[in-house]
Amino acid sequence: MELVIENVSKSYKQNKALSGFTLTMTPGIYALLGPNGSGKSTLMNIITDNIKADGGKIKFDGKDISKMGREYLKLLGYMPQYPGIYPQFSAEEYLYYMAALKGVKDPEKQIDGVLEEVELLDVRRKKTAYFSGGMKQRLALAQAVLGDPKILVLDEPTAGMDPKQRIAIRNYISKISFDKIVIIATHVVSDIEYIARDVVMLKKGVIVDNAPPDELTEKISGKVFRVNTAQKDVTEYQRKFKVTNISKEDSGGVYLRILSDKAPAEDAIAVSPTLEDYYLHVFGESTV
Ligand SMILES: Nc1ncnc2c1ncn2[C@@H]1O[C@H](COP(=O)(O)OP(=O)(O)OP(=O)(O)O)[C@@H](O)[C@H]1O
Ligand SMILES: [Mg+2]
Repeated sequence: MELVIENVSKSYKQNKALSGFTLTMTPGIYALLGPNGSGKSTLMNIITDNIKADGGKIKFDGKDISKMGREYLKLLGYMPQYPGIYPQFSAEEYLYYMAALKGVKDPEKQIDGVLEEVELLDVRRKKTAYFSGGMKQRLALAQAVLGDPKILVLDEPTAGMDPKQRIAIRNYISKISFDKIVIIATHVVSDIEYIARDVVMLKKGVIVDNAPPDELTEKISGKVFRVNTAQKDVTEYQRKFKVTNISKEDSGGVYLRILSDKAPAEDAIAVSPTLEDYYLHVFGESTV
């Protein structure tokens, strides 16, 4: 199974949201990382055929998706960034409704299992109007996975979830990803650090990096340091270096995590880089 994205571009008036995006995907998880406005949702809307690209082609197993019609839509599961969920429906009614729209066969065989996976089985008869933000997100994920789609497109799936749910959802996505092409846009680097086969970094609609997480962190190996300093010196370090984390130490001092080509202080200790360090290396300035 293969999804080939070839030279896809999209502009909104003068604003280039996506330029010459080219990528071939096979089963596994692809993480799309990039700052606000970098084109993640635009790409997802094009892959799910919700908006048309200005140029380029997308092929699924050699077939142009624009010529596949319903055959392509049946392969898709999509969780939009801002899912609209009808407030008058219960969780269960909403899933039956979405299953009907998607043409899912035997929805009654799937719905309870999916609701259980997203931890909503016990509230399945409750109106979604009374759901919390995190519950609505989990319901939106549930509708995306109905019908066992071969291409699963998730736009910031864990937004608004608490850490326990976030981990449960991450594991669930990982568990169902083996025979699917899963594309996840996120700002939460830790959501995908251990489950993505490839991380695609987008900057102003252009791919700036595309590699497995460990290859990306390897690029800044030896460039992440921990420095123990006094509180009064923190601002000076921030002025001179990319400080990615500031934490208080028990004795009253401060630990700084710093990205730098050379040791930022004599007693700086080199530490293992994380994907978040790499993200900040590519996109970030010092944090506050
Ligand atoms: N419907 C639209 N009309 C006009 N401009 C748009 C529209 N949708 C997106 N854009 C612009 O296209 C660019 C890419 O937006 P997009 O929503 O794809 O980014 P994103 O990476 O998903 O951002 P975020 O992290 O905030 O969700 C931005 O400059 C945005 O302002
Ligand atoms: Mg977006």
